[in-house]
Amino acid sequence: MKRILITGGAGFIGSHVVRLFVNSYPDVQIFNLDKLTYAGNLENLKDIEQAENYQFIHEDIVNADALHQLFTEHQFDSVIHLAAESHVDRSISDPLAFVNTNVIGTVNLLNAAVAAWKDDLDNKLFYHISTDEVYGSLGETGYFLEDTAYDPKSPYSASKASSDHFVRAYQNTYQLPIFISNCSNNYGPHQFPEKLLPLCINNVQNSKPLPIYGKGDNIRDWLYVEDHARAIDLIFHQGKKGETYNIGGFNEWKNIDIVKLLCAIMDRKLSQDSGTSEQLITYVTDRAGHDMRYAIDASKIKSELGWRPSLQFEEGLEKTVDWYLENQTWLDNVTSGSYQQYYHKQYQQ
Ligand code: NAD
Ligand code: DAU
Repeated sequence: MKRILITGGAGFIGSHVVRLFVNSYPDVQIFNLDKLTYAGNLENLKDIEQAENYQFIHEDIVNADALHQLFTEHQFDSVIHLAAESHVDRSISDPLAFVNTNVIGTVNLLNAAVAAWKDDLDNKLFYHISTDEVYGSLGETGYFLEDTAYDPKSPYSASKASSDHFVRAYQNTYQLPIFISNCSNNYGPHQFPEKLLPLCINNVQNSKPLPIYGKGDNIRDWLYVEDHARAIDLIFHQGKKGETYNIGGFNEWKNIDIVKLLCAIMDRKLSQDSGTSEQLITYVTDRAGHDMRYAIDASKIKSELGWRPSLQFEEGLEKTVDWYLENQTWLDNVTSGSYQQYYHKQYQQ
């Protein structure tokens, strides 16, 4: 039986990846290793937690000794590494937390993998999930390609770029078989309400201001999270070892436009007068060093692996709003903190 270690599986994207793999590959054992930071919630995996091919491991990737022991104990064949500190604003106020988890944690995982796999490296795989932010910021034109030079500009993107470099260095130095994929902004269920879209959904419901950084003209490319999970599955099973793949939604939006669209959907869903939510929009001080535009050219994964986004953006946004409205308790719990403590206690026994 194959044994895949997925890190960060209790988080936003990781929970969709874990669910997809557990349901699609019943003959493969899936181990979800997660520290359960504020962003990690086992509630995200409630529907599959009893599956025979699923096991949760409560651990911190900064703990190198524990990782070595886990590789010996569970004999993982491959790793899909998503665990990270993921929020740019937090990286500006606490960069070291990002160095610890994203850089040191990734190197710890690489070391544990190479040590455990050294006699049979050809049959193993280390798949690192990364971001388009490593390529820096675009002007009005152009796209990020797989060979675009790295130019990270925030502590978050610098930490992700560093971890990408380490993964490639381990391929070159120790012949570790790897994939790296760099994806644009994900949206969908389970995203912590500090990121733009779930923050605005939560704030509309509570009649709180919708903070728009600067003029709101920064541009992001948005992809529904399940489409990202499908891309990861495809790369994992059909990608060419050693390659990098860019993943994106072919779907660029100015922040102010996406928030206005979201407001219109919220008004309709909450049976409010049109324009009610938009009145909450509040322009605030810009994010320090705010990248202007991200845009992925995803033609490589499209032409080589046949992947493309499955959802139209407005359809995905409606689904996302519906999920948050139907899961008010999830939203209340993650914002109150009590939820986190409950699961920590449960898994520390
Ligand atoms: P998230 O913040 O929602 O989840 C991160 C998960 O990692 C959480 O479950 C958290 O508990 C866990 N974690 C954090 N530190 C850990 C540690 N030291 N040890 C073990 N587990 C730890 O993040 P996300 O948005 O789901 O992003 C997942 C990955 O995808 C990250 O590597 C991120 O850089 C990358 N990514 C995210 C996006 C996006 O739009 N969200 C886009 C491209 C790439
Ligand atoms: O591009 C991929 C990246 O997308 C991922 O690697 C990151 O993990 C993920 O968090 C995301 O980064 P962003 O910084 O683009 O996402 P965020 O939701 O924080 O912000 C989206 C845009 O909205 C960005 O231009 C900043 C702006 N913004 C954000 C917040 C939280 C606001 O205007 N107001 C806000 O309150």
